[in-house]
Order: sequence, then C-alpha cells, then structure tokens
Amino acid sequence: MAFSCVVGLQWGDEAKGKIVDVLSPKHQYVVRFNGGANAGHTVKFEGKTFKLSILPTGILCPNATAVVGNGVVIYPPRILEELAQLTEGGVSGKERLLISSSAHVIFPYHFEQERLSESDRGSTEAIGTTGRGIGPCYEDKAGRRWAIRMVDLLDKAVLLAKLIPVVDRKNRIFRALDPNAKQFDANDLANEFSAYGDILRENIRDTQVIMSDCAGKNIGVLFEAAQGSLLDIDHGSYPYVTSSNSSAAGIWSGSGFPASRLTQTYGIVKAYTTRVGGGPMPTELLDGPEGLGERIRRIGREYGTVTGRPRRVGWLDAVALKHTANLNDANVLCLMLLDVLSGLEELKIAISYELDGKEVVGFPSDAAMLGRCKPVYETLPGWSEDITTARKPSDLPAAALAYIRRVEQLVGRPVGVVSVGPDRCQTIWMNGGNGA
Ligand code: GDP
Ligand code: IMO
Ligand code: MG
Repeated sequence: MAFSCVVGLQWGDEAKGKIVDVLSPKHQYVVRFNGGANAGHTVKFEGKTFKLSILPTGILCPNATAVVGNGVVIYPPRILEELAQLTEGGVSGKERLLISSSAHVIFPYHFEQERLSESDRGSTEAIGTTGRGIGPCYEDKAGRRWAIRMVDLLDKAVLLAKLIPVVDRKNRIFRALDPNAKQFDANDLANEFSAYGDILRENIRDTQVIMSDCAGKNIGVLFEAAQGSLLDIDHGSYPYVTSSNSSAAGIWSGSGFPASRLTQTYGIVKAYTTRVGGGPMPTELLDGPEGLGERIRRIGREYGTVTGRPRRVGWLDAVALKHTANLNDANVLCLMLLDVLSGLEELKIAISYELDGKEVVGFPSDAAMLGRCKPVYETLPGWSEDITTARKPSDLPAAALAYIRRVEQLVGRPVGVVSVGPDRCQTIWMNGGNGA
C-alpha cells in the first residue's frame, strides 16, 4: 500500500491539484497538512472544473476519505462553501470529510490583522499575501495564548470564554494601529462559529490517531502539500513565504503521520516558473506587454486562483529545483504545463546563479541575497507542434523530449509524469506506468 506525497517544488501553482486528482484513486485517505484557503487547486475532468482552496483535492475521488489535518488553519464558512460547490458539481463530500479537532480556526479578526500588517509594511515590503488570514492565525497558534481550535467550536460556552479576552485585546491593538480599523464582538463570533461547529460536529475528529492507525495497518494515504517548497517558512525565500511548512517537512507535524514511512514523493514542477506576490524570482521575465513573459502568462492562463492577480512568469530555474527536490527527497518529478511552451523558438533554463561575478553555491536562503543573484542560462531548441493530444512519450516531438531529459539531468531526478493540458486524460506516464 502506498504512502505518497505530492509537493510543489517552486513558488506554488505547479498544478499539484491535477496530480493529486490523478493519484487519489490509489489511496484510501487524502490529506491536507498545511496552509489553508490561501491555496487554489484547479481540477478538470469530464467537462467539469472544480476549484478547491481548503478541502483536500482528493475529495473529488468518490472512494477517498479526505482529511484536513491538524497543521491546517481553517475558516469554517469556506469549508461549507466548498462542500456546497461540490454538491452543485454532483460530488457528495461531507460524509467523507474528517477535520482535525486540533486544527486552528481563522476568525474575521485575522483578516483585519493581515490587512493592517500588510499596509504597515508598505508597498515595497509587503509580502503580497492572499488576504485569507493565514499568517495571523499561525501567529496566534505559535503564541499559545489567543488560539482557538476546531474542538472549541463544539461547545459555545467554552468558545465564548476563549473569545472574550482575545477579541478585547485584538480590538485594542487594531484601534491603536488604525483608528478606523474594524472592531469585533465576542458574542456575535461565538454565536456564528458555534453554529459552524454544530454543522461540522460529525466531521471533527482526532485525525492524528487515524493517521497513526493508517501507518500501523498499511492503509494507503496521499498527502497533498499546499503552496510550493520555495514558500516554506523554514526552507523558502524568507520572509517572502507563507507561514507554514509547505514542503514535505510539514507532513509529520501537520498530520501526525510518521513521514519516515513515505514510499513515494512526487515533486511537482511547472515547465517554467511562476510566482504570485512579492519577493525575489531570479528567472522572472520582465520583457513588457509584447514579451515572452506576457505570452506565457496568456497561454498558461497564469492568474491566481484565489486572488485573480497576474502571476509573475519566468524561465525554469534548475538551481531552485535542485534545492527543493533534495529538500523533499522527491523520487519522481511531474513536469506540468509543458504544452504552454509549444511554439517558442528557444527555451532557457537557469543552470547556476552569479553574484558579484562569482558563481553561487546552492540556493541562497536569504531573500536579499537571492534578489541580487543573476541567473546563468542554457538555451535549448523549442518545438512548434501542439502537444495537447500527446498521450505517450513517443507522441512528443524530439525537442520536447530533449527538454524533459535535460530537466532530469539538471535536477538529478527522473521525470515520471508529463502533463500536456489541464484535463485528467492529458497526462503522460514516461515509463509506461499509470500511477498504480
Ligand atoms: P496548484 O495550486 O498547484 O494545484 O495549481 P493551480 O490549480 O493553482 O494552477 C495550475 C493551473 O494549470 C490550473 O488552472 C490547471 O487547470 C492548469 N493545468 C494543470 N495542468 C496543466 C497542463 O498540463 N497544461 C495546461 N495548459 N494547464 C494545466
Ligand atoms: P497553491 O496551493 C501560489 C503566496 C502569496 C504570498 C505568500 C504569502 O495554490 O500553490 P499567505 O496568504 O500564504 O500568507 O501569502 O505566499 N501563496 C501562494 N502562491 N500558490 C499558493 O498556493 C499560495 N499560497 C500562498 O501569494 O506571496
Ligand atoms: Mg494554486
């Protein structure tokens, strides 16, 4: 039985959702372990499109049990909205959803806190967060005083007793920062959020025990990371990162599953690079509205699923990929959105960085240093053919195969899957497998 993990090797939006959807049928449980509704995972099949932010993408698989682990931060109304979206799309999910009783709750005051914090940083230093309350909720969790967990929603008196001092202090801090800041009422919040607790009562469980059981009894589990490893709070381009471990490092703490038992780690790589929000991106294409960056953005529909912001676009960065593939010990790479590169005369891949005329060893952990690195490129020939109908390696043009082989060499890991379109069926297994 497989214990697998799908993890993004760039700055998010690598098309993890599509691969999770393809792999889910091979697993009994599909688990989110980090982040919250800052994620946006799009899945297409049979003419339908689903966009999930907080629910595990694996909930689309009718036989899988979806788990929102203890490391996730949850805004409960978002869960209810997504369950409603699934019902509309003909997927019944609530009876297959387990939510960790230890997961922390995002309240509306976290959104206000995030707004104040970002505006305080100013436009040049703002992180460019998604505005979903993620950072402030994790701050409260780490602070151990103002945090509220899903289990607290099950008893209104307990919830109110916890909310009264928290709301009072948040209101005072917000007012001090901005006299026009929003103010909150503990009673209103307790009424609203205990009602969510009532609706989700059957779903809220000790999921760490279930994960431990899966490991003991060899029940298949697929872990789906949100964000990308370069946004990991410890291993990414700090401080321009998210507030959780978005690499495989988060599995152990964010789910309770012993990650030493993982049997397969799929490192998801977009065939080029994108980033949303602030922070350094060495291979970014800043070549104007008629340039290649804009062309790739248009063809790849590179606009954020959560915020609609245009994603920054650049060439593939093998320096960053080697760092994240090693960090996650990805034993197979999935090269996504390769079709978007069709029609380009030449393609570039960053093979090293230079700083002040000297080659940099490894991937700099300091954002300021990364921002000063200049990529050194290798140029490969492009291909003109439409590859969206390719279904096996031999359907791909020689130049596309050469690009794939070069990625393998540079990263030092095999490409097992190539994706040539958003649909489930537009997936090529490079070594003849089918994910079984
Ligand atoms: P995630 O956050 O990593 O799950 O990725 P997103 O869903 O935010 O972004 C990936 C986007 O690319 C989605 O709109 C997918 O439908 C789409 N997509 C996935 N695979 C492919 C592919 O191979 N080719 C193209 N053109 N689009 C793809
Ligand atoms: P998926 O799962 C791309 C980025 C934000 C911002 C930074 C911090 O779809 O790949 P946050 O709201 O988390 O405090 O914002 O992280 N970010 C993402 N970028 N894909 C995501 O998720 C992201 N989740 C957060 O744009 O730069
Ligand atoms: Mg996304």
